Amino acid sequence: MDKFIIRGGNQLEGNVKVEGSKNAALPILAASLMADDICHILNIPYIDDIVTMDELLRELGAKVTLPTKDSLIIDSRQITLKRPSEELVHKLRASYYFLGALLGKFGHAEVAFPGGDAIGIRPIDIHINGLKALGAEIKIEHGIVIAHADKLIGSEVDTETSVGATINIMLAAVKARGMTTIINAAREPHVVDTANFLNMMGARIKGAGTDKIRIYSVEKLHGCEYTTIPDQIVTGTYMMAVAATGGKVRIEGVIPKHMEALSVKLLEMGVMVVSHDDQITVTSEKRLRSTRVITKVYPGFATDFQALMSTILTAANGVSSVTETIFESRFRHLEQLSHMGAKVNIQDRIANITGMDRLSGAKVVATDIRAGASLVIAGLMAEGVTEITDVYHIDRGYMDIVEKLKNIGADIERVSDDVNNERIHLIK
Ligand code: EPU
Repeated sequence: MDKFIIRGGNQLEGNVKVEGSKNAALPILAASLMADDICHILNIPYIDDIVTMDELLRELGAKVTLPTKDSLIIDSRQITLKRPSEELVHKLRASYYFLGALLGKFGHAEVAFPGGDAIGIRPIDIHINGLKALGAEIKIEHGIVIAHADKLIGSEVDTETSVGATINIMLAAVKARGMTTIINAAREPHVVDTANFLNMMGARIKGAGTDKIRIYSVEKLHGCEYTTIPDQIVTGTYMMAVAATGGKVRIEGVIPKHMEALSVKLLEMGVMVVSHDDQITVTSEKRLRSTRVITKVYPGFATDFQALMSTILTAANGVSSVTETIFESRFRHLEQLSHMGAKVNIQDRIANITGMDRLSGAKVVATDIRAGASLVIAGLMAEGVTEITDVYHIDRGYMDIVEKLKNIGADIERVSDDVNNERIHLIK
């Protein structure tokens, strides 16, 4: 298995280009199977979660081709299977989108409980209750959710700001008879991007990006060409890497509006953040100031930034507090950071972090995508050498992270002790 070796202390300088959004591309690819036609999706990140999604689509009968490294063509005309294999479903949280997409297209779906990051219990009850509200009968048999409806009927569904449930209900409701209203809808950029993609295929979805989404029934979805939005969390990862190491980096191909909550926080911490068109330039010259962070749904401070932010606060001046309100077990990176000398005290969902001069390089283990990325930043900040194992978590969500960081001056390398390197399998 691969590991990363990082020699900390280098300031970051230069330009970095952000890839397409993982959490938009995954539902968009699942949604593409609803078209009775061909979809061409551009700006897809070449990461392991997309490899799994590609395999799931092929398994169901779609023809998938890769004209370039960052685009996919999906021909869904031959899809007949309604049950993706448990083995693939367990690799990915976003496989829950097959419930909404298959049910919406065929009136039947059989999907195992999804896998994904171990950051909390992560039930899918809101998804299931929403599908029931649309008239689906749901049975759970041997770990498989079996959803069936002769005809879905539009209804009012409360998705309680859940990102996955909001998107899943949109997928299922696109062809449901009449109108569906989603209340307490999630407003995250990837919810809006999925709605835009569905509309491009002929759906009639209004209000995505607000807490009330209306979906009017259509008979058919057609093929289209669509470009996914840039990855909000990857953008924030590079912003926080520069904030922590010092230096000046222009982050390109981004949507600054999606970065407002993080930008405000970094400005408060003494980092310069300047946005221009689709670029953000981050300059960090002084020691960071401590702060208080509470994770919230969009447009608040994203839970996916929490591990990264709590990491950079280990070297801030003073005591910071970080409250995680979305997931119950999202502090596992802090245990790893304590091996690097971080001074952290956790009480329930609040981490109090006392800033110190510098972390000290150590052997640490990535436990999920963002926890893994936070250890990369910790390694860049630390004195000495940091070795990160289980980096397959990071590869699920970050495209070419080692190469991109090297290009802006980081001393980081990937060491592979696996002769059959698993990552060389997407371009077929
Ligand atoms: N929840 C329930 N029941 C449900 C659904 C959610 O109790 O049926 C709870 C969850 O357990 C959690 C909260 O509601 O406590 C919010 O969960 P949400 O459904 O919004 O999250 P998700 O759909 O499981 C997506 C992203 C996560 C991101 C969260 C929050 C994907 C594939 N995953 O997860 O991304 O942290 O929204 O923004 O889009 C990541 O990219 O590293 C990642 C974990």
